[in-house]
Amino acid sequence: MQYRAYGKTGLRASTLGFGAMRLPAREDGTCDYDRAVPMLQRAIELGVNYIDSAWGYINGTSEVAVGKAIKPYERAKLILSTKIPINDLYGPEWRRRLEVQLQRFDSPYIDVMHMHNLHWQVFQEHGLGENGCLKAARQAQAEGLIRHLAFSSHDTPENVIRLIETGEFDGVLLQYNFLDRRMEEPIRRAHEKSLGVVVMGPVGGGRLSMWDPQALRDLIPESVVSAPDLAIRWVLSNPNVTVALSGMNTLEMIEQNASSASREQPFTPQEQEMVNRLLAKLTEFANLYCTGCGYCMPCPNGVDIPGNFLLMNYYRVYGLREYATRQYALLKQGKELWLQGTRIAGKDASACVQCGTCEPKCPQNIPIIEQLEEVERVLGA
Ligand SMILES: NC(=O)c1ccc[n+]([C@@H]2O[C@H](COP(=O)([O-])OP(=O)(O)OC[C@H]3O[C@@H](n4cnc5c(N)ncnc54)[C@H](OP(=O)(O)O)[C@@H]3O)[C@@H](O)[C@H]2O)c1
Ligand code: SF4
Ligand code: SF4
Repeated sequence: MQYRAYGKTGLRASTLGFGAMRLPAREDGTCDYDRAVPMLQRAIELGVNYIDSAWGYINGTSEVAVGKAIKPYERAKLILSTKIPINDLYGPEWRRRLEVQLQRFDSPYIDVMHMHNLHWQVFQEHGLGENGCLKAARQAQAEGLIRHLAFSSHDTPENVIRLIETGEFDGVLLQYNFLDRRMEEPIRRAHEKSLGVVVMGPVGGGRLSMWDPQALRDLIPESVVSAPDLAIRWVLSNPNVTVALSGMNTLEMIEQNASSASREQPFTPQEQEMVNRLLAKLTEFANLYCTGCGYCMPCPNGVDIPGNFLLMNYYRVYGLREYATRQYALLKQGKELWLQGTRIAGKDASACVQCGTCEPKCPQNIPIIEQLEEVERVLGA
């Protein structure tokens, strides 16, 4: 395992972190401790020292599982991270939750406490002020109950940078992988400001594990053994990243990801060049199709044109057919989707009545009607 400095805190975190959101659960919705605890302990034995949970994961039992798993180990060698969402509470309730969390973990302190899924506006309304959560967090820090304060966010990159620049936080937890690079600039800024940078979704929340890179084998370094291996090494090849936090739920995933994170150099300079070429190729390929600019919108019939094309790109560019088909079926059922930080909330391609309003507005001159027909034919079959 490799270790990197978590900002200026003095902590050294393992480059692979354990995201305890996807631990095995029982039918009653609580964590299956008999399966989860050995998984967490296997990761610790492989050198993972950064373990991340949250107030709400697995109805609160993820934190209990982590607490049970860390019992036999020296507490000071582990970095316990968790989160409290602050969007519907103020300081006193934040403090009550912290006390519950300390009991769940059965630990006298938490190393990194996050404001969970923080938005700039929520920080103004619930973080700041006399009754705000920030004051309660500083008090808990003074009492030694939490060591460092961080935040996780899916807000816009601009707002994430504003949160970083408040100077109130020691670390960030952001989504980042080679399909979704929206947070690259906030990650750079966070590192520049000496914050610890933890990445969630390095394997695209599981999407990238379905990608078959064999199709592009001659563009992939020989040492890459699988898509998750490439995904994790790619995230760690960004020197601004401290930890790739993966939500592993089998022993095989833990072993494999630990091995990916154990390379002193994620890629050799030659491999890095190859991977850069691969990504450039994928981007070039993706740009032949819809770029998601949205100029063609709105469709008077409610079709989410870029959203449908984004799904098609998962198939055409990345070969993720099964994933794209499943998501398209959800869109047909009227479900809202979030992909690569983009909300897809309109109708599927079959709702196009071929009125032609959109086509003249497309700077890529995409034959939208024809391509929507193709989306329905390929993904709707
Ligand atoms: N703060 C927030 O708002 C927030 C939001 C999301 C996540 N998080 C945190 O970040 C953590 C990481 O995010 P994530 O769980 O989305 O990370 P991820 O590593 O991108 O996705 C985990 C999934 O990827 C697949 N996977 C990973 N390694 C694999 C391997 N070696 N072989 C095959 N498949 C593999 C598995 O999918 P399958 O199970 O489908 O096979 C696994 O469940 C979470 O656990 C959570 O702690 C925080
Ligand atoms: S052609 Fe189809 S997608 Fe384009 S505006 Fe008309 S209904 Fe919407
Ligand atoms: S205008 Fe063209 S490139 Fe832009 S979102 Fe619409 S179809 Fe895609």
